[in-house]
Amino acid sequence: MKQRKIGIIGLGAVGKNCAYALALSGLADELLLVDIKADKVAAECQDLRDCMSYCPHPVEVNVADYGDLGDCDIIVNAVGNMPLLLESMDRLDELHFNIAQVNDFVPKIMAGGFHGVFINISNPCDIITHQVAKLAGLPKGQVFGTGTGLDSSRLIALLHQQTGIAHRSITALMMGEHGASIMVPWSQVSFGSKSLANLEASGDPRFRFDHWGFRKKAEENAYLVLRGKHCTEYGICTTLLRTVELVVHDQKAIQPASMELCGEYGVTGINAGVPCIIGKNGVEEIVEYDLPESELAEFHACCNNIRKNMTMDDAVIMD
Ligand code: LAC
Repeated sequence: MKQRKIGIIGLGAVGKNCAYALALSGLADELLLVDIKADKVAAECQDLRDCMSYCPHPVEVNVADYGDLGDCDIIVNAVGNMPLLLESMDRLDELHFNIAQVNDFVPKIMAGGFHGVFINISNPCDIITHQVAKLAGLPKGQVFGTGTGLDSSRLIALLHQQTGIAHRSITALMMGEHGASIMVPWSQVSFGSKSLANLEASGDPRFRFDHWGFRKKAEENAYLVLRGKHCTEYGICTTLLRTVELVVHDQKAIQPASMELCGEYGVTGINAGVPCIIGKNGVEEIVEYDLPESELAEFHACCNNIRKNMTMDDAVIMD
């Protein structure tokens, strides 16, 4: 049987939780951990090795360098500079630091022969994912980001609290930037096969709420976590875990992810959070929902902001 190898770059709060969740999940046979801080990555590696006697699925865990990741099936990039984010609560403030990181290590990874799936978490997620894809030169879809997959999870958590309906029975997503320029295509929100619009019209008070307020609350919940924990961990980590599961098991499920648009939704040349079919080759298809004009215009405004933000650093590769 082929051994499933997953590389994780950046063992900060996000990366280490992703490593621990992947170790417990049985989705990997080997984890390769990479971090610029040698003591830190050695400690994370040993701490994970110390789990293995009670772990449901024994996993080999090793410290690696970028050039050792060539035969990984999946690489997860979780590098970041949390103090920069915490200072301003603006994910864009990590751009300069993280662009320098990926500009340095992506060529080293590709020189090692990597030809798997690259999942980016690092912020600003859409721009960093775009840069990694350009540097890697892998087939389209093999490089994508967690993007608004995390924001969508936060929105569904709020809709569950509001309605009491199980998370898995709620179809809802956020599109656009994993950041301030994000929107909710409310026309696509449904509970089972009943649309939100239909349920609102029924007069059921559970489904009558301020849409804009909900969208802001989903965003503010991220900052609530950041202020209280000085990081976020579980939301992003389970988003990554579910994403890896879709790839490893070739599930071809529809999940929001940061993907380069090449005409989809009338947008070209940037990455944005859009519904994607994710399977063994990464993003295998971008799903184009039939959005009403008002929502399409809102999505375009988000994409225009992402494009503007890309010009904040000369190192960002524009189309
Ligand atoms: C968050 C970080 C991962 O929103 O951007 O939790």
